Amino acid sequence: MRQRSTFPRLLGPLLLLAAGLSTLGAAGPTGTPGAPAPGTPRPLGAIVPAPASVTPGGAPYTLTRATAVRLGTDDPETRGIGGYLAALLRPSTGYPLPVVDADAARGGILLRLSQRSAALGEEGYELRAGSGGVTLTAHRPAGLFRGVQTLRQQLPAAVEKRTVQPGPWRIAGGTVTDFPRYAYRGAMLDVSRHFFTVDQVKRYIDQLALYKVNKLHLHLSDDQGWRIAVDSWPRLATYGGSTQVGGGPGGHYTKDDYKEIVRYAASRYQEVVPEIDLPGHTNAALASYAELNCDGVAPPLYTGTNVGFSSLCVPKEITYAFVDDVIRELAALTPGRYLHIGGDEAHSTSHADYTAFMDRVQPLVARYGKTVIGWHQLTGARPADGALAQYWGLDRSSAAEKEQVAAAGRNGTGVILSPADRAYLDMKYTKDTKLGLAWAGYVEVQRSYDWDPATLLPGLPPSAVAGVEAPLWTETISESAHIDQMAFPRLPGIAELGWSPASTHDWEAYRHRLAAQGPRLDNLGIDFHRSPQVPWAAE
Ligand code: ACM
Repeated sequence: MRQRSTFPRLLGPLLLLAAGLSTLGAAGPTGTPGAPAPGTPRPLGAIVPAPASVTPGGAPYTLTRATAVRLGTDDPETRGIGGYLAALLRPSTGYPLPVVDADAARGGILLRLSQRSAALGEEGYELRAGSGGVTLTAHRPAGLFRGVQTLRQQLPAAVEKRTVQPGPWRIAGGTVTDFPRYAYRGAMLDVSRHFFTVDQVKRYIDQLALYKVNKLHLHLSDDQGWRIAVDSWPRLATYGGSTQVGGGPGGHYTKDDYKEIVRYAASRYQEVVPEIDLPGHTNAALASYAELNCDGVAPPLYTGTNVGFSSLCVPKEITYAFVDDVIRELAALTPGRYLHIGGDEAHSTSHADYTAFMDRVQPLVARYGKTVIGWHQLTGARPADGALAQYWGLDRSSAAEKEQVAAAGRNGTGVILSPADRAYLDMKYTKDTKLGLAWAGYVEVQRSYDWDPATLLPGLPPSAVAGVEAPLWTETISESAHIDQMAFPRLPGIAELGWSPASTHDWEAYRHRLAAQGPRLDNLGIDFHRSPQVPWAAE
């Protein structure tokens, strides 16, 4: 899964470091360290996630009323990305920013796909800026989209405002050549414990896009709510989705709602990874259909926050007819590669039953053309060929548990790293954090960022690391403002671990780059946690 680097890995970080140092040294006219003079462009590469390679140099490009977004490639995706870029820039610049064919204008911002740039891979890009214009080159449209996020972050934070701002709108001169360290860079939203509307999910998708996240994992079912319509078992959504933690009305996605989420995520080059958590975490399903219970009696709906008390009935045949229907219908709604089948905290399922269940269910995922992802307890059964295991252990997890996952990795199971004491966005930052839980400990910004996916699990071959994911469980989270407070600013750090080469990893440098994100988040209306570990800058 790990993408191979075809670029020098040492040169870029050195140049980046040089760029970063020159920013820190620059004092504005008011003498504030770190505040550049008005109109000084943000140093090339001083963004999150850190680019793989940065070569600053030459004059900046200044956007003007005459700037056009030029398409060097005649394909609808590039046109869509050009439209997205222009729509980002128009409100704050007040410029018309027409999206035109390359030969209809000169200079400006050129987006082009190049067959000769195969080394950039699926998501890599090159950004070249100089006084005459900016050129973004990629091999694939996803690379252009990631490059647009870089271009956006090179502009002043005021670009994120939705009303006309004074500018100037300068992009530092030089070249960024960039591509991800890992192919899997995810964020998970638990829409089961509390339901989130399509618009709330889209808001999160847009936030994730800024940090080059490429997987949106939706935790669609749990004890407290079933959130996706299944035609062959309609009560799952209509009854099983009718409440949530605390007893509110819950909700569910119709198939059209879900397709709209998938479409919107795809427009931000994010693949939706749907999860149906099995065989535990299934009270909402068991409450909806009495026949799924071993004793034939449906339990009541559940609105508390305990875990581990529910299980599908492993010996009953109807269980597999049910799972087959659910997986078939969900796979049909899913253009992405993966289907997540949960598998965590099955404390009410015996080990023998758990293994028997996974032996029958994983082939159903393959039958409908998808690749299995499971929480790392799946490695205690027999992960299917090609399956990915999502590790959510802690530093203090037992050596045996870590070794079980590492051994699976040595046997060919890819591992997504979501260590709960670092990557879980629902953990409190400190004892004073109002939202969130603390069972994995307090996770301040440094702790969240300061680890290396390649070495977290002893004995796991670095080549087995598929990537990273930041899950957000929602027992205590019920509004977009809560997501903002818990995801920011930790999500950008996890996104950086997934994207940036290990050689750029440095907390001191990172916390300054992150500080510069503060005004941008403010302008986006994201009320983030103002961690005292980060020297937040005013812009
Ligand atoms: C989990 O946090 N139960 C995956």
